[in-house]
Amino acid sequence: MKRLAILISGRGSNMEAILRARLPATVAAVISNEPGARGLEIARTYGIVTEVVPHRGYPDRGSFEQALAHAIDRHGADLVVLAGFMRVLTADFVARYRGRLVNIHPSLLPAFPGLHTHRRALEAGVRIHGCTVHFVTESLDHGPIIIQAAVPVLPEDDEARLAARVLAQEHRIYPQAIRWILEGRLRLSGEDRVEIEGARPPAQALCSPEVEG
Ligand code: GRF
Repeated sequence: MKRLAILISGRGSNMEAILRARLPATVAAVISNEPGARGLEIARTYGIVTEVVPHRGYPDRGSFEQALAHAIDRHGADLVVLAGFMRVLTADFVARYRGRLVNIHPSLLPAFPGLHTHRRALEAGVRIHGCTVHFVTESLDHGPIIIQAAVPVLPEDDEARLAARVLAQEHRIYPQAIRWILEGRLRLSGEDRVEIEGARPPAQALCSPEVEG
């Protein structure tokens, strides 16, 4: 069985969705840079080993990442899953785990990389928003896209309502993406495109608002 390390910084709802998905893998550890991350408690209720690598305890980014990498490797992780992990990772760290480091981002990348994606989507007036699971590269919130989910932006939405609608989809697509990886069904074609063996194309387009007639 492949071994996963899940990296979190806070709430841990994506982590929990992954734990609940009963993937054909061992979750070797949940690692947080924040000692108070709520996700750590949740992980323990699932009997998962947890570890804290507190970024504030290190003089610079490089030494923090060294400690983080040691923790990941000590747990024998094959795949590193960023699930609300709020530290920017350096090119060295990314290179070390190239092809086995994945992230979820709450927007339809390449739109809205970075923070406050839901607020920015509302401000931009987009009618469709969503989330993306991708392999991690040196550039922030960029990398070969594995799966995306789109949701409509509704007239009565505020940031919280839109975030909740997107989060429900995050909880569907992240376990799915990891399952495909574990099943060995992903191939990188070219620099940026991911092919997924046997994946079904979606049945129809999402129009927001609906087309009438
Ligand atoms: C999610 O919206 C995720 O896409 C983003 O940070 C948030 C983490 O939420 N990277 P949770 O900790 O998984 O509940």
